[in-house]
Amino acid sequence: MITEALMVAILAFAACGQNKPPIRNPDFGLNVKQLVQRHGYPFENHTVVTQDGYILEIHRIPYGRNSIAYNNRPPMLLIPGIMCSSVDWVNTGPEKALGFILADRGYDVWLGNTRGTTWSRRHIRLDPDRDKKEFWDYSFHEIGSYDLPAFIDHMLNVTAHKRLFYVGHSQGTASLFVLASLKPHYNNKIRLSIALSPLAYAAHIRSPVTLFIAKFWSLVEAFVHTTQFYEVLPSTPLFGLLAQIFCNDYSPFQNSICAGIFYVAGGYSPDQLNTSLIPVIGSNTPSGSSMKQMQHYAQLYLSKSFRQYDYGGKINLEKYNQPTPPKYDLGKVTIPHLFYYGSNDLFSRKEDVDKTVSELPNVIINKRIEGFNHLDSLWGIDAVKLIFNEVLEFMKQF
Ligand SMILES: *[C@@H]1O[C@H](CO)[C@@H](O)[C@H](O)[C@H]1NC(C)=O
Ligand SMILES: *[C@@H]1O[C@H](CO)[C@@H](O)[C@H](O)[C@H]1NC(C)=O
Ligand SMILES: *[C@@H]1O[C@H](CO)[C@@H](O)[C@H](O)[C@H]1NC(C)=O
Repeated sequence: MITEALMVAILAFAACGQNKPPIRNPDFGLNVKQLVQRHGYPFENHTVVTQDGYILEIHRIPYGRNSIAYNNRPPMLLIPGIMCSSVDWVNTGPEKALGFILADRGYDVWLGNTRGTTWSRRHIRLDPDRDKKEFWDYSFHEIGSYDLPAFIDHMLNVTAHKRLFYVGHSQGTASLFVLASLKPHYNNKIRLSIALSPLAYAAHIRSPVTLFIAKFWSLVEAFVHTTQFYEVLPSTPLFGLLAQIFCNDYSPFQNSICAGIFYVAGGYSPDQLNTSLIPVIGSNTPSGSSMKQMQHYAQLYLSKSFRQYDYGGKINLEKYNQPTPPKYDLGKVTIPHLFYYGSNDLFSRKEDVDKTVSELPNVIINKRIEGFNHLDSLWGIDAVKLIFNEVLEFMKQF
C-alpha cells in the first residue's frame, strides 16, 4: 500500500515537471499474470518442489488467443537467463514476444521461474532472508541439476507427453548443458533445444561485471562473506517506477542513461533495443539472483573451462574427490540444438561459442547475427524476423 501510494505520488510529481504527460504503456507495472491475461491469453500457475527443497513456480500459457482450449499441443519449456523470470518471455507483447508467438502457433507454453527469482524465492525449510548463506548457495549448476528436472517431470506428467521442446536464453542454455551432461537420460525427454545467446565456454566474456568479479576475485569473495551479500538485485517496484520516471518516451535520459544500462548489461545495440519498452521491462526485471551465480561465470572466464564451481583445493577434494572441479562433458549432450547469438554479445563470444559447438555432438545450426547483443535474441526489434520465424520452421521437423 505504502509503495503504491508513493508510486502514485512520484508519478504525479514527475508528470507535473514535463510539458506533455509521460506515455504510460498499458503493460507498465503489471506482473506476469496480469500482462498475459491483459493480452487475452489464458494463464495457469503451477508449483513444483525440487529435490533439494526449493519451491518454484512455472507459468503456463496453454493455448493462444484465438484457439479452442487444450487440444494436445506439443509442450515447450522456456527458461530465461540470470536476473530474468517468466515475464521476460512475454513483456514485448503478442507480436514480438516468443512466449505469445508460440502459444498462437499451436504450442503449449510453460515459462519456468528458476530458484531465487521473484516467483521462486521460497524453500520448504530455508528462509531467503534469515538463512541467506544456505538459501543463496547455488549457481547455474543447481538450476540445471534440480530446477530443470523438476519442471520437465511436472510438465510431462501433466501433459502426458513423452518429450518436450526447450528454449533457453543465456543461463537457460548453460543449465540445460549441466542437466544433459550429468543426467543423460534427460536427453531423451527433449525433442529440440533452441539456444538463444548460449553460454558454456566463457573465456572471452567482455561483460564489465564478470570482468570485475574475475579481476578482484578475493576482494569480492571477502566482501560477499563479511557483508552477507548473497542475494543480488531482488525484484522491487522501485525499478519500474524509476524506469517510468526517467526512461519514458519524453525523458531526455531514455536514449542515454537508460539505454546505456542495457548496453552495459548485454552489449551495444542501438538498432535492436526498443527504448519505449524500458519501463515495461523494468517493471519486473531484474528479478534477483545469487552472487554465486555471477561468481561461477567469473570462474568460467578465469579457468577457460566449462566446469563445476571451484571451492579451492581442500574443499574441492571433499566435494569432488579431486583438487580441481570436474568438467561438464558436453559430449553427453545429445539433444539437437539450434544456436543463435549476436556479434555484439558481451557474453556469447564467437571463440567460445565455436568451442562449445565443436564439443556438442548435435548442433544443427550455429548462427551469429550481425548487430545483436546478448539480450536481443529475447527482446530485439528484429528477433522475430531474424530468429523466431526460422525456429518455428525448424520445429516442424522435430
Ligand atoms: C501462484 O500461486 C502461488 C501459490 O498460491 C502464489 O503465491 C503466487 O502469487 C501465484 N503466482 C502468480 C504469478 O500469480
Ligand atoms: C504426476 O501427477 C499425479 C497427479 O497429480 C501425482 O499424483 C504424481 O505424483 C505425479 N508424478 C510425478 C512423477 O510427478
Ligand atoms: C516499441 O514498443 C512500442 C511499445 O510497445 C511499440 O508501440 C512500438 O511499435 C515498438 N517499436 C518497434 C520498432 O518495434
